[in-house]
Amino acid sequence: MNKMLAFPKDFWWGSAWSAEQAEGRGETGKAETNWEHWFKTEPNRFYEGVGPEITTDHIHRYKEDIQLLKETGHNSFRISISWARMFPNGGVGEVNDKAISFYRDVLTELNKNDIKPFVNLFHFDMPYALEEKGGWTSREVVEAYVTFARTCFHEFGDLVYHWFTFNEPLGPILGGYLENFHYPNVVDFKKGAQAAFNTILAHAKAIKAFKELNLTSKIGVILNLSPTYPRSQNKQDLEAASIADAFYVRSFLDPMVKGTFPKKLVDILKNYNQMPSYEEVDLKIIAENTSQILGLNYYEPRRVQARLTKINEQGPFLPEWFFELHDMPGKRMNIYRGWEIYEKGIYDLCIDIRDNYDNIEAFISENGMGVANETRFMNNDNQVNDSYRIDFIKDHLAYVHKAIQEGCRIKGYHLWTFIDCWSWINAYKNRYGLVSLDLKSQERTIKKSGEFYKKMSLANGFEY
Ligand code: BG6
Repeated sequence: MNKMLAFPKDFWWGSAWSAEQAEGRGETGKAETNWEHWFKTEPNRFYEGVGPEITTDHIHRYKEDIQLLKETGHNSFRISISWARMFPNGGVGEVNDKAISFYRDVLTELNKNDIKPFVNLFHFDMPYALEEKGGWTSREVVEAYVTFARTCFHEFGDLVYHWFTFNEPLGPILGGYLENFHYPNVVDFKKGAQAAFNTILAHAKAIKAFKELNLTSKIGVILNLSPTYPRSQNKQDLEAASIADAFYVRSFLDPMVKGTFPKKLVDILKNYNQMPSYEEVDLKIIAENTSQILGLNYYEPRRVQARLTKINEQGPFLPEWFFELHDMPGKRMNIYRGWEIYEKGIYDLCIDIRDNYDNIEAFISENGMGVANETRFMNNDNQVNDSYRIDFIKDHLAYVHKAIQEGCRIKGYHLWTFIDCWSWINAYKNRYGLVSLDLKSQERTIKKSGEFYKKMSLANGFEY
């Protein structure tokens, strides 16, 4: 028989999206972003040639959208603030009053509707002029980011519930410096390590600036943390998994939450002459300014085995010199996106944070199911009947519930995403929303999962 899975009082039910993916340009003035520039120069890289100018148009429709947030049971919602909109002169100089008004209006409207605003500062987009200066490899960009962060704390601090410095900082490093799915799309590990170090420093410096303002909200970071599973318990597979884990999980988690760097990773970088440059004082700033709250993005696990094929050590240095991904036979797939579905991963992740990160206050900040050609599941009323997404949410939340029962401080669950939105090079290929979007008419229609989400939020749980 089904039983009710009840969640703790004041659990945050919500979802997330980001400025570049949802707002649209609007009329406030905005610098060209790295993504807009990339699209201009290489439109063919983007799914069906659709770039970031074709969005949900939230900038004009935010009032209507906030009513939809209510109708889908949100008591919290994460947005990001566009650096390029706030500082339209290439990310530096005079702050844009029109951008301040826009974000203050959105945040006020959210609060008026009892939806707690969670605000993130960097979600992959930056003014292109800063990217040209070297992006995250440049110290100048770190300082420009800290000014941007301080300005946001100052202008919006009275309206924001929780702050986040970065969303998935690993993404731009992997995509930009190793795997070719993010600007500046080069293969250069050492540059990537420098960009990663500077990102970590920027996070710490933003937290330092935040603390100086004595706001009542908290600040932290949102990390994509796929738990790493070895193919077997043999020594070689275990070691391979532990190295992959150091590169992809501990690399940001340790410094941004504990203020220290994982020894295993540092040793490898030293041995292979891949260390970034830094000053002693940077380490002190990083140690003293760590996250107060942690967002956990979870989509799929990382399965790893020892290398079977020999690597050419003459080529550019890559983390994959030390391991291979393992294609586990029989794994369950989201066939519509090509990602594995393994709901227990979300539980393992929560337990890791409980046991190894002082049980820091945390929440699931992204989890979700992308589906290509989702209109095929539309009924005659233009409503997407996404029972697969409802099952996906329930199966993951059942494990979150178990983790909470076992002492994890998980305060909420945010789905990716609210209304189907534009996604980086995948554009509108994979739909993730609780609300569907007709790109031509801009019409929004609540999916079955949106109705379910409201019911679950009102009941503060669901039958399982
Ligand atoms: C998350 C990102 O990792 O994945 C989002 O934070 C992104 O910005 C989402 O849209 C889905 O990605 P994709 O490639 O499946 O559309």
